[in-house]
Amino acid sequence: MKKIPVSMTVNDDEVDIYVPAHWTLLDVLREELELTGAKEGCGEGVCGSCTVLMDGHPVRSCLTLAAEARGARVLTVEGLGGPGMELDPLQQAFIEKGAVQCGFCTPGMLMTAKALLDSKPEATEQEVREAISGNICRCTGYAKIVEAILDASHKSET
Ligand code: FES
Ligand code: FES
Repeated sequence: MKKIPVSMTVNDDEVDIYVPAHWTLLDVLREELELTGAKEGCGEGVCGSCTVLMDGHPVRSCLTLAAEARGARVLTVEGLGGPGMELDPLQQAFIEKGAVQCGFCTPGMLMTAKALLDSKPEATEQEVREAISGNICRCTGYAKIVEAILDASHKSET
């Protein structure tokens, strides 16, 4: 099988690996780097559970070829908190607001929300709802997720 070299930064770690040419970024994260936070729900760009940030922008890692991520800075849910295992304000808010049920959608939701609040720290409810409209949750009904993201956004203002 033809392998290609891929270098990128994942959660502040430099990664230099050879992977099969057809591999996606999600394959790299889960199979090679054992970062299993990003989930494969649909595998075809519909559910958002595989969302990670690439150079600050949310991407569907199931649709992103590993080759496309060359040279990129990738942030996954494993890198979201602080170095001492401190939770990111978004993670804390998800816990406090009860925004997690089965948890399958949660890593993707968190990364989508992170991208939103990084670019719009004072996002409105409408903006939050629009931002997560591509992230499917089968459990929560979304209300608590929206509440949690708004809560984290208000904390970032203080
Ligand atoms: S697994 Fe990537 S969008 Fe569903
Ligand atoms: S918490 Fe189960 S899919 Fe969202």
